[in-house]
This record gives sequence, structure tokens and C-alpha cells, in this order.
Amino acid sequence: MTETLLETAEIAARKAGRYIMASISDLGQVDEKGRANLVTSVDRGSEKIIITEIRKRYPDHAVLAEESGAASTQSDFRWVVDPIDGTTNFVHGYPFFCVSIAVQKKEETLAAVVFDPFHDEMFRAMRGKGAFLNHKPLSVSPTPQLSDALLATGFPYRDGQSWRHSMALFQNFYASTHGVRRDGAAALDLCYVAAGRFDGFWEYDLNPWDVAAGILMVQEAGGKTTDFQGQTSSIHDKQILASNGHIHAAMLESIRSPSA
Ligand code: IPD
Ligand code: CA
Ligand code: CA
Repeated sequence: MTETLLETAEIAARKAGRYIMASISDLGQVDEKGRANLVTSVDRGSEKIIITEIRKRYPDHAVLAEESGAASTQSDFRWVVDPIDGTTNFVHGYPFFCVSIAVQKKEETLAAVVFDPFHDEMFRAMRGKGAFLNHKPLSVSPTPQLSDALLATGFPYRDGQSWRHSMALFQNFYASTHGVRRDGAAALDLCYVAAGRFDGFWEYDLNPWDVAAGILMVQEAGGKTTDFQGQTSSIHDKQILASNGHIHAAMLESIRSPSA
């Protein structure tokens, strides 16, 4: 069952990825949902392709997708879809964007894919069965301490308390690690933690479609995901901390007292 769900997610992500790459030089209309929060007709087209593929096989499943919202049914199954994560990068031709698809049963993510069509990297995970990159098993980095870590983050769109805290954390982590990257696609950031390319990642104010697939990827690669209090993460949390596990406590400590 889970294999078939994963297979459907992969077929949908590849099809959407082909469409996204073909549209790279013809973005259509670019709109602002909020300040610097972009959406293109390619986001909407990609979402349509993905939902069509899901509906072909699972017409009664619920879907929560960024551009069209929630289509709820009586089903215990729900697909959580980000048709392009990293739209700003896509619009500017910066090659760090992806399609993210997770399928849940009663809020538990069973299977997920994140597809980076530019680099042809297909990240996939199944609960209890590991995470893979183009069929190669993934595991988080062995980096034992924060001072040797490369981290990633993203910043909330709006000014406010969490924006100021993000900036303080950036400064703090930048001074105490090998560096901090801000690449602009949270689903891929999480996959890079799963792949051991980053040792940790934190961000405020993400949405379920940004994190649903990536959280499973990190967990199945042997890493840890929590909120900023160290509690088990949910896709509905407005805070996420993901790491290789070894540096998690140290990151939590810095988040609690950013000037430490
Ligand atoms: C955004 C990206 C970005 C994160 C933003 C998200 P979008 O998603 O994941 O890295 O910092 O908060 O909204 O809008 O490109 O799908
Ligand atoms: Ca997103
Ligand atoms: Ca998006």
C-alpha cells in the first residue's frame, strides 16, 4: 500500500518537474500574494498536474495544496502538496526549487517525495523504510558538535517578533558554526539535512506543504525534528528545528537564548 502511494507521488512529481523545467523561460503571470511572496501560473499549473495524477488513482483522498487549499473528504488519507517550493528562486532562475508531496494517514506521514527537477534529484522516504536519493540510501551527517556544523535557515516574510528572533538566531549561529546558508526552499533544505549536506536547519512560520515531506525525509535518514521547545514536530507547527540529532540539544539551547 505505502509503496503504491510513494509510486503515485513520484509519478506526479516527475510529471510536474518536466512541466516546470519546460516553463522556465516562460513564467506567465507573476503575482505577489504578500510582500515578496510570489506565485506564478507555473505554480498553479504544477499543482493541477499533481492533483490530477493523485485523483486518477485515489479519487476519494483528501488534498491540502498550497495554491488551491484544502479539498476534504471522509478519507483518512490526505496528500500535502507544494507545487513549487522556492518560487522566488524559480522566478529569478536560481536553481534551488522543488516539488514536494507527502501522503498522510490520520496525520501520520507514510510516504513522501521531494523532486529537484533542475538537478534531477528525487528524494523519497517511506515511514520505517528509510530515505533515498535517486535510490541511494540517505543518512544524516555524523558531525558531532555545533562548532563544526553547516546550518541552513529561512526567514519569515513579515516583519515582527519571529522575524527579529530569526535575525538574532542567524547572527548567533553564524558566529558559532562553519556557516549558515539561506537557500530559499524549505523542503529542499530539509532534504539536504537528510542527505548530510547540512547538519541542521531551523525556520519560523512555515506551512504544512513546506515541511510535510521533508520532516519524514530527515526522520527516515536518522535525524531529529522538533519544535523550538524540543517537542515532537507536527506539520502544523509554526517552528521547525531539524538536525542530524547530535547537535540538536546545542541548537535548542541557542534558540532559547540567542545571545548566549
Ligand atoms: C517558501 C520557501 C522558503 C521559505 C518560505 C516559504 P514557496 O515557499 O520554502 O524557503 O523561507 O517561508 O514560503 O513560497 O516558495 O513555496
Ligand atoms: Ca513552500
Ligand atoms: Ca510553493
